[in-house]
Amino acid sequence: MKEAVVMDKKELEQTLILIKPDALKNSLIGYVLSQLSEVHSGLRFAGAKIVHVNRMLAIEHYAEHRGKPFFPALLDYITGLAHYPSEPWKRRVIAFVFQGPKAISKIREIAGPTDPNEAREKKPGCIRALGTIVRLKDAKGNYIGERMDNLIHASARADEAEREIKLWFKPSDIPPLMRAYPTEINEEHFYFDGKKLTMKHEKGSVCLVAPGDCVWKTDLTALRAIHQGKTAHCNIETVAAKYLINEKRDDF
Ligand code: GTP
Ligand code: MG
Repeated sequence: MKEAVVMDKKELEQTLILIKPDALKNSLIGYVLSQLSEVHSGLRFAGAKIVHVNRMLAIEHYAEHRGKPFFPALLDYITGLAHYPSEPWKRRVIAFVFQGPKAISKIREIAGPTDPNEAREKKPGCIRALGTIVRLKDAKGNYIGERMDNLIHASARADEAEREIKLWFKPSDIPPLMRAYPTEINEEHFYFDGKKLTMKHEKGSVCLVAPGDCVWKTDLTALRAIHQGKTAHCNIETVAAKYLINEKRDDF
């Protein structure tokens, strides 16, 4: 009889990686990917997509930094506005799920410190050592702060990785045997118009999930709670953002 092949739980550890717009603009994708390769990192790709980051996704991704002085510049950076002000079609990031033992700490190690100056000083050779600190000025030329262009995002902790992977990826973006979080087959329609969640289509709304779709279990719990007006573990934007990725709708 053929033995069942079961993956060790340690092999399922996952992290979200974003190759940010400055890496695309400077043609560093190949370099970054070679640093992350299985030979260097011992990890493997579980998901990949090219994303035009809308403001909703940007705000959700960097929710922990809301209200900080550098938050507006951070949104301009991750949405691609900062690097492609007059070429909106070039505004992209490349998102990956990487998988394998100690995926989170290994990728943070390869990425290096957040601040590129610190990265150069303390960890020459790390990816972020090739980053830039950009001085920001207002329309009158006055200094208003700085932006850290550091080429790559990598989840910092397991709970962050789970939140971020579920924010950017649907289960069907990841091969079935590589999915680390519980899923459920949805049996209802849920629509979103940028403000409210409905179970019937209304003009301008997008179908987030339809019957038969494989959905993160936690997303379905949140959708049901939000629709019933109950307290949910996250807001509707957190669930909806990934379904609106690359939808041609400027309002989202
Ligand atoms: P990410 O992988 O991008 O999340 O970076 P990180 O986890 O190393 O840092 P953190 O989550 O604290 O910050 C997110 C992003 O905000 C960073 O990548 C920087 O671009 C920016 N950032 C963080 N701290 C500062 C700061 O003190 N000043 C400025 N100007 N930008 C910051
Ligand atoms: Mg972070």
